Amino acid sequence: MKSDQIETMKTALVVGANGVIGRNLINYLLTLSDWNVIGVSRRCGDDTGRLRYVPVNLLNEDETREKLGTLTEVTHIFYAAYQDRPTWAELVQPNLSMLVNVVNAVEAVAPNLQHISLMQGYKVYGAHLGPFKTPAKETDAYHMPPEFNVDQQLFLEQRQPGSTWTWSALRPSVVCGFALGNPMNLAMVIAIYASMSKELGLPLRFPGKPGAYHSLLEMTDAGLLARATVWAATDAGCANQAFNITNGDLFRWNELWPKIAAFFELETAPPLPMSLEVVMADKEPLWKSMVEKYGLENNGYKDVSSWRFGDFVFAWDYDFFADSSKARRFGFHDFVDTEKMFMDIFEDFRQRKVIP
Ligand SMILES: NC(=O)c1ccc[n+]([C@@H]2O[C@H](COP(=O)([O-])OP(=O)(O)OC[C@H]3O[C@@H](n4cnc5c(N)ncnc54)[C@H](OP(=O)(O)O)[C@@H]3O)[C@@H](O)[C@H]2O)c1
Repeated sequence: MKSDQIETMKTALVVGANGVIGRNLINYLLTLSDWNVIGVSRRCGDDTGRLRYVPVNLLNEDETREKLGTLTEVTHIFYAAYQDRPTWAELVQPNLSMLVNVVNAVEAVAPNLQHISLMQGYKVYGAHLGPFKTPAKETDAYHMPPEFNVDQQLFLEQRQPGSTWTWSALRPSVVCGFALGNPMNLAMVIAIYASMSKELGLPLRFPGKPGAYHSLLEMTDAGLLARATVWAATDAGCANQAFNITNGDLFRWNELWPKIAAFFELETAPPLPMSLEVVMADKEPLWKSMVEKYGLENNGYKDVSSWRFGDFVFAWDYDFFADSSKARRFGFHDFVDTEKMFMDIFEDFRQRKVIP
């Protein structure tokens, strides 16, 4: 490596390295020659040339300070860790604490810390509570707490003045990409549900609320989100700003569902509302038999099941989209065709032998 290249090298601390967002962000950063990457989560991964992992439980303040308090080289923190909890209120404490623990540990030792990127979502707009104002805009007023995304942003806003770093916040829609063992993975929900429907000789039925089949929504491809995240973290014009990040198109399940069925060589049948968490609870033996029959990677049923998240998304019988023109106005012009995105991800799952 040339000396001028070494001088311009940046070091990304990707927090939540095994998540659907963090994992795809790391993959993207490694395609860029001027980044070293440190991945942080409780689980590790394989260290390679410019990537190393630091396993840490971020809920433990002392452990976080001990493990991250030596990382003097960090220039950018990309925060995409997430602790799931059964209620919206219970999400606040652990998710705010993890961010605070990371910032406290790294800021104290990293003199060249330039940026902290925060991964958020439409919970900022109350999208999880019910029909919210669409298209949601970054300038929309906050809603009644508890809401951890907002608390995390307020923490950065209050901490930033007088520091060496700026922050940015990314607000994607549902994020689709490869990951295992994460609670929110819609592409995996659909792929496993469709594969099991096929194994049982069933047509592909939309399992959500009747109105959800017809509502207008959008997705965010994990690769596009990674590109937007790095853009916002490195473009000076994006300092201390939040951005909605979406594929750029809208769709309704009633149009997309038959195309998904066709990918899996399935017929569709009229929608039937059911809780995936309930009806898929007894399907572990079926999954195990499919892993054996089709020579799939030996992924445990838990690692490919985000049924509760599927129930959540398929219950949106209201429009679910945001205005992503601010990112475009600030210079991010990337887009992804959502139908192609789903098919590409399902094909990727096949290549990785996650599904038959
Ligand atoms: N997925 C979506 O569709 C979506 C959509 C919009 C917004 N978002 C937001 O984006 C953020 C990230 O979501 P995600 O879906 O990428 O989450 P995820 O797939 O569940 O990943 C969470 C990451 O955090 C790590 N983690 C969890 N607890 C930890 C702990 N105690 N210590 C260290 N690491 C820990 C996990 O790895 P280990 O298990 O190895 O620790 C994992 O790497 C969240 O704020 C979420 O609300 C997600």
